[in-house]
Amino acid sequence: MTSGPGVWITLEGGDGSGKTTQSDLLAAWLSSEGRTVLRTREPGGSEVGNLIRDIVLHHRGDIAPRAEALLYAADRAHHVATVVRPALARGEVVLQDRYLDSSVAYQGAGRVLDAGEVRDLSLWAAEGALPDLTVLLDLAPEAARVRLDSADKPFDRLEAEKTEFHARVRDAYLALAAAEPERFLVVDADASPQVIAEQIRARVQELLG
Ligand code: TYD
Repeated sequence: MTSGPGVWITLEGGDGSGKTTQSDLLAAWLSSEGRTVLRTREPGGSEVGNLIRDIVLHHRGDIAPRAEALLYAADRAHHVATVVRPALARGEVVLQDRYLDSSVAYQGAGRVLDAGEVRDLSLWAAEGALPDLTVLLDLAPEAARVRLDSADKPFDRLEAEKTEFHARVRDAYLALAAAEPERFLVVDADASPQVIAEQIRARVQELLG
């Protein structure tokens, strides 16, 4: 990312892969190292984004796949312009739950839109911004389902999709990571939270120099 002295880290993975736990652990560690951390997410990292989040995650009827892709892209455009870039310009560490790789995996592979078009749409929305590091928490959809079923979470349109949908999402994520190994760190989300946190810290430490 070229827009400032900060560092931009995104967390990706299927629903139930443990992103929140890892984000909590990484944020605590970064703060203890004296870094100013801005935690944010897509969809919903801004006021406008929260309105969009409500539509894409909680609308009870169908949303046309291209409309869904555009809603995520609209959220992204506003979020990057008004939250991420300013924080990077201030020199902060931006720790973000989900970014454009989610769109390529969920709207591209999951909803079967053209992955290249979905990526281009997001890059247009974000004026080409890409994170310094993307951590992919990789987990088999069956294992994720067990975790989700035992968690007491409200209805979420994407989470409610079938296992085949989530299997396509996982494969798409792994393909993205393989295509950009310098941006991605792939970790086995079945490992213990502490082991995963160590792996992430080691990579972030390299990044911070
Ligand atoms: P969220 O409640 O943030 O779930 P999680 O804790 O799993 O991140 O819901 C985000 C949902 O939106 C998740 O199911 C993935 C989906 N999503 C997309 O389909 N495309 C996108 O571009 C983004 C950012 C998220």
